[in-house]
Amino acid sequence: MDLTYRPRRLRRSFALRSMVQEHSLTPADFIYPLFVHAGSDIQPISAMPGAMRWSLDSLISEVERAWQLGIRCVVLFPKVDESLKTEDGAECFNPDGLIPRAIRRVKAAVPEMTVMTDVALDPYSCDGHDGIVSSEGIVLNDETIEYLCRQAVVQAEAGADLIGPSDMMDGRVGAIREALDEEDFEYVGIISYTAKYSSAYYGPFREALDSAPRGNTTKPIPKDKSTYQMNPANAREAITEAQLDEQEGADILMVKPGLAYLDIIYRLRQESELPIAAYNVSGEYAMVKAAAEKGWIDERKVVLETLLSFKRSGADLILTYHACDAAQWLK
Ligand code: PBG
Repeated sequence: MDLTYRPRRLRRSFALRSMVQEHSLTPADFIYPLFVHAGSDIQPISAMPGAMRWSLDSLISEVERAWQLGIRCVVLFPKVDESLKTEDGAECFNPDGLIPRAIRRVKAAVPEMTVMTDVALDPYSCDGHDGIVSSEGIVLNDETIEYLCRQAVVQAEAGADLIGPSDMMDGRVGAIREALDEEDFEYVGIISYTAKYSSAYYGPFREALDSAPRGNTTKPIPKDKSTYQMNPANAREAITEAQLDEQEGADILMVKPGLAYLDIIYRLRQESELPIAAYNVSGEYAMVKAAAEKGWIDERKVVLETLLSFKRSGADLILTYHACDAAQWLK
């Protein structure tokens, strides 16, 4: 055949392919989510093989291991004791609570590690919602924001570098920015869960924290989070959320879940100059682990290909439970 263009010319050798490779992964792209509980044992999470609920001591060893592998940021999630959960989730701003203690320990052991936190009430709420549920069963916006601001300030006082509001209340990024600045934390950043969808992919995470919405005899509790998290059918709305977060002072925008929402990552990349993060969530992790355990897929290749797809779609950062494995495989 008389072909002028033969794209295969640049695929002929490993060297040529490496020369024209458009995207790549490095461990510094990863943000490693870690679960912590108050006990002294290490507890496995059944739907997330390889992920654990760490004790405070073992958390430190895991953070040190991650640092050695080149990971530069961890995000901490608490499994809060049932006895501390209340309707308003006030434990979230206890300065001696599990998360502030964990932040101080991590910062003392590995000072250079960037520590990101999650801001929302669900791990602390006996109703299992990210905000305060009224007696009519409404998740209250403005009342919740006061709590979120106090939570963010307590996390910053403990040494957090990046505050991650995951609650999807309207106006929370601006309010948290103001609260941090008032307390002289103007250098503590906000990585906003900008486009967070009401997704079934969070199932294993809610098992890990025992934080799913649950019934209550005294008031109606919404079964899911669809009055505040985004409708999976909407894409343009993500741009509105991104514009608001940018105006309110977010430093990094996040899309969550990641894999089923690569189009949203791509759109936000076109709309904003801010760094963008993708959250490769618990359900995505569980599916890969389950298929790998059955021998149906090559875990290593599938994970690296998936993580690369986030970079290709426009993400700068990837929150992933595969972070340590992937960092090891990239060596
Ligand atoms: C809490 C929160 C959730 C996740 C991160 N922060 C769960 C939820 O919104 O119900 C999910 C993370 C994952 O599934 O890996 N607001």
